[in-house]
Amino acid sequence: MEEEGKYIKYHGLLCPKETHSEDSLKYLEGFNMRDDDVIAITYPKSGTTWMQEILPLILNGGDLTPVQTIPNWARVPWLEETRAAQVMDKLTPPRLMVSHMPYDLMPPSFFSSKAKVIYVARNPKDVMVSSYFFHQMATFLDDPGTFEEFLDKFLAGQVLFGKWTDHVKSWRKADLGDRILHITYEEMVEDLKGAVRCISDFLGQKMSEETLEKVVSHCSFNTMKTNSMSNYSLVPQEVLDTKKSNFLRKGISGDWKNHFSPEQEAKFSTVIKEEIRGSDIKFPWDEE
Ligand code: A3P
Repeated sequence: MEEEGKYIKYHGLLCPKETHSEDSLKYLEGFNMRDDDVIAITYPKSGTTWMQEILPLILNGGDLTPVQTIPNWARVPWLEETRAAQVMDKLTPPRLMVSHMPYDLMPPSFFSSKAKVIYVARNPKDVMVSSYFFHQMATFLDDPGTFEEFLDKFLAGQVLFGKWTDHVKSWRKADLGDRILHITYEEMVEDLKGAVRCISDFLGQKMSEETLEKVVSHCSFNTMKTNSMSNYSLVPQEVLDTKKSNFLRKGISGDWKNHFSPEQEAKFSTVIKEEIRGSDIKFPWDEE
């Protein structure tokens, strides 16, 4: 596999060397997906950490023990990251995992399994803003440069896991029937209770109103911000520099309005609309 500075290139996609290796990507390819596995798929900065909180709470009937005692990366591991091989077999079924992989790069066993998928999409303008600040704090990623420079890189797909439009399109055309649930970060911000209910229904988990309230209160932005198992405070400052930004930074929709100039907004929207055109995808933010 080709290397490029701080990244390893996997089928043309940039993956950070800090968390990915040739071995971890081989592990992904040979992964044995089981029918009862549950996987949340995201383009980076779209709500992965949030799903690592929500899914164990739902599957454990609101029991807070896993989210209060196990770091998010070991509790709901990334399928393609170096840690997966160490932690995956220790998970109690149903195994919960996350991945940033586009549909076409999922392992063969995924396609023949009945594993359930939750795809979380987020307004690409907010994804870009979140990623811009993440690149400032994550010392294992390239400096993002100016906002304008990073915007151009984002549109060209010269960022982690390639183009946002390729990622969402790959999972929208995915022929997975009722194995997949599409949800957006914006729906979760707007009505977290409704989103948690929708996810638990999808996973066939019955939940009392009381448990639902407990789950929702635990996975709110403010609670997660204080949970050391989820806020990345266990990661050394030399790796994630919180003087530059926080991992759980703002947790809102529409922060792009504080960062994009009208010209940048026009450029960004034109490219994204053009690339999405004809794919029949409608997102809540399209009307903005
Ligand atoms: P911001 O940088 O816009 O705040 P990922 O986990 O995929 O890397 O995504 C990180 C983004 O999700 C960050 O966005 C982070 O704050 C946000 N996030 C994580 N948990 C959240 C929660 N409980 N509520 C709202 N946003 C959350």
